Amino acid sequence: MVRRIVRKILLWMASNPWLREHLPRLGFVRRAVRRFMPGEDAESAFGAAAGLAASGQGILFTRLGENLAALAEADEVAAHYRALLDREASLPRRPELSVKPTQLGLDIDAEACFRHLDVLAGLAADAGTWLWLDMEGSTYVDSTLDLYERLRAVHPNVGICLQAYLKRTPKDLRRLLPLEPAVRLVKGAYDEPATIAYRRRPEVDAAYQALALVLAEAARDGRARCALGTHDSGLIERIATFAESADVSRGSLEVHMLYGIRSRELARLQAAGFPTFTLIAYGAFWYPWYMRRLAERPANVLFALRQLLP
Ligand code: FDA
Repeated sequence: MVRRIVRKILLWMASNPWLREHLPRLGFVRRAVRRFMPGEDAESAFGAAAGLAASGQGILFTRLGENLAALAEADEVAAHYRALLDREASLPRRPELSVKPTQLGLDIDAEACFRHLDVLAGLAADAGTWLWLDMEGSTYVDSTLDLYERLRAVHPNVGICLQAYLKRTPKDLRRLLPLEPAVRLVKGAYDEPATIAYRRRPEVDAAYQALALVLAEAARDGRARCALGTHDSGLIERIATFAESADVSRGSLEVHMLYGIRSRELARLQAAGFPTFTLIAYGAFWYPWYMRRLAERPANVLFALRQLLP
């Protein structure tokens, strides 16, 4: 109960414009965010990626930002990602990109957003890598699915995130499966009402497991790329056990985790045969993203407050 209230407050703080403007200026908040983010520029992201990639992990990059005020900002973000795809990577495998549609202008002009994504997916294909769409709050699900369907019709190297806490997601997954999609399944990070979302952990986990098994069977048959975007290794093991009885090998179940969270557990899963990826976030607009990380585990707030100590 207390945990749910703290989560709600933190998610409210994530979307409050005044706090969004003022909190990131505080030194202790800036120090605390370092736990989840190697730095604000792409150099820091490449630096953090080097060690992980050397150990055989895949890397995903995301430059933080969402809900822009002007389309020119989306053009700048797209230019940043184009340059990133053009850059000679000194890593064993090209990093994949994960982007928020609202960071590319979905709120302002959905066609402009599609054009940016279309260009980025093409460049990603030329570079031998993938472009993923993050899933944002529930009001964006329809438009993000529409974008994905249009992109997938042209590009084989695009993936999408689906949120298990939304009651609509089994239907959305059924809609996408004929496209042979790449899906990263997550529990869901936003404050959604009980009318449309499961809010209790056992319900979310059960929904996650059921969706993962459908996706895993499609991956077994070469009809999907299945990525489990979660730090919940118990749930991952349970899914792998059920999947095994349907002849799905661990090699078909990718595990994606966020930089700075349960990295030892990710290495253990890698050694156990799961393909693993670390998503490295960087950028100056980290505040709402960081607040969602605090909301996922309210104990993180204590870590942040400890940065106040000398
Ligand atoms: P759960 O919250 O049950 O945590 C399992 C365990 O992991 C915890 O007990 C704790 O030990 C550890 N843990 C989890 N979160 C932690 C944290 N913040 N700090 C420290 N420890 C933590 N969401 C979304 O709505 N749209 C999206 O596009 C994405 N994209 C995305 C990509 C990737 C690669 C990941 C891993 C996650 C996302 N998410 C997301 C976030 C996701 O919806 C969810 O909020 C978080 O992953 C936390 O839930 P878990 O699945 O980790 O399980």
